[in-house]
Amino acid sequence: MSSYHESVDQLSEKAKDISRALNSLKEEIEAVDWYNQRVDVTEDAELKAVMAHNRDEEIEHACMTLEWLRRNMDGWDDELKTYLFTKAPITEVEEAGSGSENSGLNIGKM
Ligand SMILES: [Fe+2]
Repeated sequence: MSSYHESVDQLSEKAKDISRALNSLKEEIEAVDWYNQRVDVTEDAELKAVMAHNRDEEIEHACMTLEWLRRNMDGWDDELKTYLFTKAPITEVEEAGSGSENSGLNIGKM
């Protein structure tokens, strides 16, 4: 049942909490995919609505967990600030916001 790749007694409590959150995020996203597939194929309209509701709740769970990671694990805040809610092509967002090619313009940001 353990998902640790290192000896559990060597891991800090912080690393264990981060592992819990990362695994929860994986599970929530997997659930989004499964519900979304069921929504796509079922021909029963009421079941489709229930599955769609459940899928959207899983998206909420995933976002809540992602926000915990943003607040508690290095790296997420910077990357999310760079890429989320931008308009430029995703592969160009970093360059658009870095200032290296478009000094101070932040053209990728909304
Ligand atoms: Fe969930």
